[in-house]
Amino acid sequence: MTDRRNFLKASLLGASASALAWAGKLAAKQASTSQAFSGARVVSTWDFGVAANKAAWTVLSQGGHALDAVETGVQVPESDLKNHSVGKAGYPDRDGHVTLDASIMDADGNCGAVAALEHIEHPICVARLVMDRTPHVLLVGEGALQFALAQGFKKQELLTPESDKAWHEWLKTARYQPSINSEVHDYGHGGSPGMPGGAGNHDTIGMLAIDAQGRLAGACTTSGMAWKMRGRVGDSPIIGAGLYVDGEVGAATSTGVGEEVIRNAGSFLVVELMRQGRSPQEACKEAVMRIIRRRPTQTKELQVGFLAMNKHGDVGAWAIQHGFSYAVCDAKKQDGLIPSSSVYSTSFS
Ligand code: GLY
Repeated sequence: MTDRRNFLKASLLGASASALAWAGKLAAKQASTSQAFSGARVVSTWDFGVAANKAAWTVLSQGGHALDAVETGVQVPESDLKNHSVGKAGYPDRDGHVTLDASIMDADGNCGAVAALEHIEHPICVARLVMDRTPHVLLVGEGALQFALAQGFKKQELLTPESDKAWHEWLKTARYQPSINSEVHDYGHGGSPGMPGGAGNHDTIGMLAIDAQGRLAGACTTSGMAWKMRGRVGDSPIIGAGLYVDGEVGAATSTGVGEEVIRNAGSFLVVELMRQGRSPQEACKEAVMRIIRRRPTQTKELQVGFLAMNKHGDVGAWAIQHGFSYAVCDAKKQDGLIPSSSVYSTSFS
């Protein structure tokens, strides 16, 4: 996790000049809400979004569908054993079970999700099959696993030795605060096991794409809050909370403390704000401010970030705390990493 934290710092510093210039151009573009469609593009949350976007781009650059692109892209962090907040090697719940949440959605309101799914490396692929092969939207727990196995997925151990060690470290104190401060000390880019708050390392990949034909889609996948209560489900598999797509308007996804995103129907809110004429960035900011208004005494302990793309491919993001970043990939640049705007410019710890 230290490596990832250092990587983020190095990336943000090293790439700052060109990334910021590029971010400035993107921000200038979205000042107008009547942009023409500017070509295929994929965006995703955090530094690990860079590698995920590259995988998604292999689909988009060949004229593939945005839905296939996001499903392909987020499988990269799901398989990354150094990533302890998504997929295999995710930190377990407080009882030692790795439980995964994921959702996927297209521009026409088709969607699928799984929650509290165990033993399957790629929950996003199960979510896609919930969407494609069932009349339902969300399958959970044992039922989701039963469905996955019936579809041919292989059961495997997701708790790696490294995650098991971190869990046992946490067990020494087992301080459990189902609190909103799980990211503020570290923004999910590491998090020492047993850190204050007891639930460091917590971030989600949310990915949004528009393909060459202008079709939007999104995906969101996470192992959720480290050391969470057994059965706890965050925003990521909840359509309208962690992910929402509407082909008439745009798409949004979230990262951070899922409880706060669910309470405010965060991603749906961002899309509806764009429908009312806000740019992606303005919509993300307003959704963040709504959370803050409801938690006026706790905002310095809380991290939530939103990422949005409108139907023209314009992108924006906003977070409560400094430290959120998002990756952008299009025909011009495949490895962009942009620091998000935030309400607070420094982290509180
Ligand atoms: N945002 C992911 C979660 O709260 O589980």
